[in-house]
Order: sequence, then C-alpha cells, then structure tokens
Amino acid sequence: MSSKVIGKPVDRVDGKLKVTGKALYAAEHNPPGMVHAVIVQSTVPRGSVLRMQTSEAEKSPGVLAVLTPKNMPKLAGLEQYAGVSVLPRLTAMQDSEVLFNGQPIALVVADTFERATHAASLVRTFYMDKPATLDMEAALGRAEAAVGVFGGPPPGHTRGDAAAALSSAPVRVEATYRTPTEHHNPMEPHACIASWDEAGSLTLYDTNQGVYFMRQFLSVALGLPPDKLRVISPYVGGGFGCKALPWSHVILSIMAAKAVGKPVKLVLTRRQMFSLVGFRPRTLQKVELAANAQGKLTAIRHTGYSETSEKDGFTETFTNVTNMLYACPNVTTSQQLVRLNTGTPTFMRAPGEATGTYAFESALDELAHALKMDPLELRRINHADKDPEHGKEWSSKSLLECYRWGAERFGWKKRSLQPRSMKDGDILIGWGMATATFPAFRQQASALMKLMADGTAVVQCAAADLGTGAYTVFTQMAAETLGLAPEKIRMEMGDTALPPGPLAGGSSSTATVSPAIHAAANDVRGKLVKLAMADKASPLHGLAEKDVLAEDGRLFSRQDKARGETFAQLLGRQKLPHVEGKGDAAPAPSEQKYSAHAFGAHFIEVRVDEALGTVRVSRIVTAMGAGRILNAKTARSQISGGVIFGLGMALTEETLRDPRMGRVMTADLAEYHVPVHADVPDIDVHFVEENDPHVNPLGIKGIGEVGTTGVAAAVANAVFHATGKRVRDLPITLDKLL
Ligand code: MOS
Repeated sequence: MSSKVIGKPVDRVDGKLKVTGKALYAAEHNPPGMVHAVIVQSTVPRGSVLRMQTSEAEKSPGVLAVLTPKNMPKLAGLEQYAGVSVLPRLTAMQDSEVLFNGQPIALVVADTFERATHAASLVRTFYMDKPATLDMEAALGRAEAAVGVFGGPPPGHTRGDAAAALSSAPVRVEATYRTPTEHHNPMEPHACIASWDEAGSLTLYDTNQGVYFMRQFLSVALGLPPDKLRVISPYVGGGFGCKALPWSHVILSIMAAKAVGKPVKLVLTRRQMFSLVGFRPRTLQKVELAANAQGKLTAIRHTGYSETSEKDGFTETFTNVTNMLYACPNVTTSQQLVRLNTGTPTFMRAPGEATGTYAFESALDELAHALKMDPLELRRINHADKDPEHGKEWSSKSLLECYRWGAERFGWKKRSLQPRSMKDGDILIGWGMATATFPAFRQQASALMKLMADGTAVVQCAAADLGTGAYTVFTQMAAETLGLAPEKIRMEMGDTALPPGPLAGGSSSTATVSPAIHAAANDVRGKLVKLAMADKASPLHGLAEKDVLAEDGRLFSRQDKARGETFAQLLGRQKLPHVEGKGDAAPAPSEQKYSAHAFGAHFIEVRVDEALGTVRVSRIVTAMGAGRILNAKTARSQISGGVIFGLGMALTEETLRDPRMGRVMTADLAEYHVPVHADVPDIDVHFVEENDPHVNPLGIKGIGEVGTTGVAAAVANAVFHATGKRVRDLPITLDKLL
C-alpha cells in the first residue's frame, strides 16, 4: 500500500466534536420522559437478605418504583451464561443471597436523580450474616485449578523437565511477587439509558467496548431476539477492559425501564465503580529461574494464584508470557484460583501480561544480579528466535532492534552494574529495563462504504473507539484505499444498526476492522473505475482497469494525470445518488502458521530520596516493534498511555478492602491513586519499522496493551539498582523503601 495518509500523524477526526461537547456520551442522552435509577448496595460481604423495608422509599417524593429480589422479574436467560468462564454472573437481584459487599440489592427509580438517590438512602435491609472469605493468602489452602478464558484451555504449560534442571543448576533464583487488586478508572463512568418502545423493542445507550458483543449477551439474558435490541455506544471515555463485559447495572436499568414504562438512566458513581464492575485481581506469583554460568536459561518455573469471586471463574493469566518470552528448554507454569467474597474480576489492560511480566521480568533482573551480568545482556543471550512454546516461526519480531535502539537512546552502556552506585547528591539514581510483549490477534468485521454524489463518503462499522484514535485510523484507511481526502470521509461506529464490528479487546480492533474497510473502499474504487471505463462521456473511457488511478477524489490515467475526472463528476453524469462498497474480513487459516506478537523494551530511570522513600520516575525510553503503524501521533499516545498505566501499577495503584467487611476502602480518586501529570516524565516512544507479511494482509499488530507490559518490572528493577532493595510487592510505596 502506498502511503499518502497511512502512518501520518493525522489529528483525531473526532477531536473537535469532543472538545466542543458535541460528541455525546451515553449519559448525555435525554430521551423524552426519561427517569433515573439508583442502585442500593449490600453492606455485608456475605449473607442473605431476610427482609427489606421499602415503604419509606416508595412514599418518598418522585419515586416511581422500588425493585428488590422480591419483585424483580426472573430472567431465565441469565443462567445460560452461568459457568462460562470469564463472563460475570449478573447479580440482577434474582435471589436474596449476598456474595460480596456492594452487591446490588435494590433499585430505586424516581423522576430525578436526586430524588432517586434520597429514596435509595431510605431502604432498610436486614441480613442474616454468613462467614465471608476475604483474605486471599489465608485461603490458599482452598485454591482450585484455574480456568481458561471463554471456555478455552486453562493457563499452564510444560516442556522439558524444569524440576530436574532447577535442582542441578549452577545459578538459581527463586522469589515470590505480589500484585494488588486494581481498578480501571476510566474517566467516563459506566452509564446506560434503557428505553422500550410500544412494540417491545429496546434501545440501549450504553458505554461499552463492543455493541454487537453486548447485544449478543443481552439478547440471551433477556430472551429478546437481537433484531429487537439496538445498542448505541459511539463514544467511550476509556474502557481498559472494564467495559468489555456486561455488568449488573445494564440489566437493572433495562428491567427498571420495563417496570415503569419510561426510559431509565442509570449512571454509576465513581465510588460504585469500585464494586459494581470488574477489576484486576490480586496475584501471588512464585518464579524460579536457573541458568548456566554464561547466563543461558536452563529452567523456568512460574506458578501462583489469583483471586476470583465465589461463583465465577476469572483467571488473570500471568504465566502466558513466561511460556513464550525466552528460549529455555525446561519450563513449567501453572495457576490456581482462590475464591473470595468480592465481585468478579475481569480483563484489565494486558490482563495477565501486565502482572506476569512484573514478576517474570523482575526475576530476570534478580538472575542478572546473581550472575553479575548486565540485565539487557541476559535478555539478549536468551532471545527466542522462534516461539519456544509452540515451535512456530514468529510472524515478525524486532525485539533485538528494540533493545539496540532503546539502549542507545537511553545511554544504557553508561550504567554501572552495582546497585547504589549512581547518585546525584543525596538522590540515588537507578536504571532498569524490561521486555514488553503482547499477542497480535484479529477477529471478524464487516464494513460498508458509501460514496455520495457530492464526493464525500460515509464508512460504517460497529467497532468501538475507546478514546484511542480508532475513528481516525479507520478514516485514514478508507481515505488511503479509495483515494479521497480524510476530511471528506465520515466514519460511523458504535451502533448495532451498522455492519458488525468487533469487541475492542485484546488490542485487536485496528487489525480486525482495517482489512474490512480496506476491502469496502477497494470495492467502491473498483466500481468507479468500471463505471468510468464504460462511460463514453468519461475522459477515462477505453482505458484498461490497471491504468486508472484514484487520488484526492479523482480518477485519472496512469500515463497522463491531467486526463481524468472527479468522483462527483462521474456520479453526477451517471445520475447516481451514491456508490456502495462492502468488505468482510476474518483471520485467514494461513495466519495460524505463525506466532504473532508485538515486542518492545522499556528503559527507565528513577530518582530515589532515601530519607523519604520517594521514587520519582525521571526518564523513560520505550522502543516498540508493533507492525505497521497507521498513525504516528495516536500510536505514540497509545504507547505513552500504556506506559503511564504501568507507572500507576508500579508506584501508586492499589485497591484496599476492609479485611472484616470486604468493602473497598479506596473507592475514590483521592484514595486510589492514578498517576497525574507530575508523576509522568516525557516518554520517548519509538516504533521500529516492521513489515510483517504474515500477521494479516495489512501487517497490523495491536498497540493498546503492549505498552503497559514490562513497565512495572522496569521500575522495580530501576528501584533495585538505585537502592539495593528488591520490592516484590506492588505498588512500590515509600513505606517499602524506608
Ligand atoms: Mo482489553 S483488557 O482486552 O479490554
């Protein structure tokens, strides 16, 4: 593909709409007659609701309905998904059992949000308490086998004999690492507006990562045919995984709308987002590594636990990276789950890879220290030239170039080997690095392109833009392929009235949707060329198809650029209101022959004030090999954002639950610390040029999650280099350094 538009740092096409408030988010819609719902949550971690006193709430001004387990309709469809791993059981008040603190137990609907909120405070609940399990480490004895994602195989891998190789190794390290529960905290809270019409069709304004995915689930849960259900989610203010799956509030708003016969708006508060939707589960990971005296890995064993809820299995697959990241003949990985009385955990940006690389890439650093070897050199020595887990060739891999470029840019060779050896006055300086990786997937998508008689075009695909720049790169893809300026194209997304698009998950949207748009735009272009060739009045009449080119909304002869006409001229003369093209794309079987991943490396400098225990990250260099980059600007933002997500994980983010009552104690942004600008230095992001002929026809890998992987380890490794203290328990707060 030539590139007039692809790869360029095109500004966000939706930027103006967003800064002027014209891009309406889910909660900003106001259908006529709309009323408001507020969720009442349990205040105990486990038990049964014996009795609820709702009369005061019912009599409160403006109240239209109070739904409780007693009068909530039973939804047989909800059970159809029970037992499928990953999908959370929706606690839609189907019974009186309480399984976690904060579970929805009643829903109050009133004419205003304030009146609903007040009435919700009047509901009195009497429980029979039951013993709750709240401490993962105290419950390890009851751990059970981990489950796979969406019914797939559970994590875990064996090759060679790790136990034997560990026992005979000349150099060996063994350590246990901990990562806390974390919450996604997108800027835009979860919100939906449910509206039924007289014919029994449902329209749902929602904020989610995939409207078709949401509709499929809701259609089963509600027993409603998909064509009676429209899900609309054109703008999403961040997702990071917590808006991938449906949560209880969606079902509750839909049932409330049915009960009162009016559209119902339900918006979660920031505080409720710490209990009513999923989170990254706590992990406890043990890593054992063995190497020969030259630093060649001879054995890896990575095992551990993650938390899940009492009834649902969600596994944070932290060992997946360990299986494939380095060449090593003897590897054993396995995982277990510990059931607690919490809500159900879920995907959070690089789910498994973020937590797994923290433990594994920290252990690599510990091994380098034991070997008295440069940690980057250790990684080079153990580079996997092909996928060691499946024995496949990589579709492409530029990791060695990322190491080279990143080290050079950072000045890594000036690093002293010894911890505590680099200082700036009283401040200890540390340099750490780690490898980043994330798999490259794609799903199915369809796209429609309509070129109008005025020379503008509309492109449609029900994909999601979580704020990442998807609207922009898809517009670029359509523009490049058809030969039309991006300003002339309007991209439409996030609505089940549009052709099917994927869930924005697993960093796969761009690789999934781009080929469909490419095909749709090629279809339009082919039709235009044929029309012109057949039209005696066209200056292109009589030319061969291969000799007609398109650019800037105009068809012209390859031999003579002046010989041609605009799309609008052609359509006008043909009296056509529009020309339509369609494209479908799905993974090809040939792609399965290769192992496809993005790879990269982070180099991070920290400054530690030992007297205060404070860690400041002062420099970050990140090099990525992530396939074809469609937009230099939004791609850089994706990687920077991913790195910042990793900084939060490394240094500040931690969800704390009350150990007796299981209530989240850090349920706002004053207590749950996401990095702010002052925490983030300039991030020097570089993409290594990568032409991948195997991953998919356009050579695209995802970039949404790979930036986060490895960051927490690189920070922890830098802190060790600065202080000589190895923090194996995130986040690295100052108390752990004093
Ligand atoms: Mo992302 S954590 O795959 O939604």
